[in-house]
Amino acid sequence: MTSSLDDTSLDTPRLLLRRWHDTDLDGLAGINAQPEVMRYIHDGRTLSRAATAERLAAYRRHWDEHGFGLYAVQLKATGELTGFTGLAVPTFLPEIMPAVEIGWRLGRAHWGRGLATEAAQAVVRHSRTALGLRRLVSIHVVGNEASARVMVKLGMTLDRETVQPDTGRRVRVYAMDL
Ligand SMILES: CC(C)(COP(=O)(O)OP(=O)(O)OC[C@H]1O[C@@H](n2cnc3c(N)ncnc32)[C@H](O)[C@@H]1OP(=O)(O)O)[C@@H](O)C(=O)NCCC(=O)NCCS
Repeated sequence: MTSSLDDTSLDTPRLLLRRWHDTDLDGLAGINAQPEVMRYIHDGRTLSRAATAERLAAYRRHWDEHGFGLYAVQLKATGELTGFTGLAVPTFLPEIMPAVEIGWRLGRAHWGRGLATEAAQAVVRHSRTALGLRRLVSIHVVGNEASARVMVKLGMTLDRETVQPDTGRRVRVYAMDL
């Protein structure tokens, strides 16, 4: 056990999934400033450091409110923050509520090595065994094939295609029973 592995952390061969630290702001702001990363997120625009700080605070409030949330995903080998994976309540898509969504975002340098899938598999296991959740959804903007592929690799299937009301973008909802 590492010193940062508390009872809400998850461990995979290459990754530590943990609660957020104040010092994660630099790393997360760097990721949210990358246009390729943000292309299929919300309205597709990059986020300022101040906007990222607000998101980080919201992720922490989500943990406090629900007892689960998005994890900071740290590379064990270097300690680097690669991005996040975890759970959120998708209030932005009222037609599928109530629901719990699994999601992911990694800095560009960390794509293409199976890290999102490795992290998400740990979250799925934890959702089933520790949280007792019965169903997970995942939502991607149409065209985000890498994210769709992670959903399929997790065992999710297409539930519906619809429009996200606050952005007007077409999204696909995947789902799996646990
Ligand atoms: C989505 C994301 C987290 C995937 O991370 P990752 O660690 O590269 O994912 P994995 O390596 O576990 O799996 C990606 C899969 O998509 C495939 N893929 C990648 N780009 C693809 C594309 N353009 N078209 C089709 N498949 C693609 C990969 O080949 C891989 O599948 P495989 O294992 O069968 O070969 C990463 O691309 C990302 O952070 N994107 C920006 C943020 C984002 O869009 N988040 C999701 C919002 S819904």
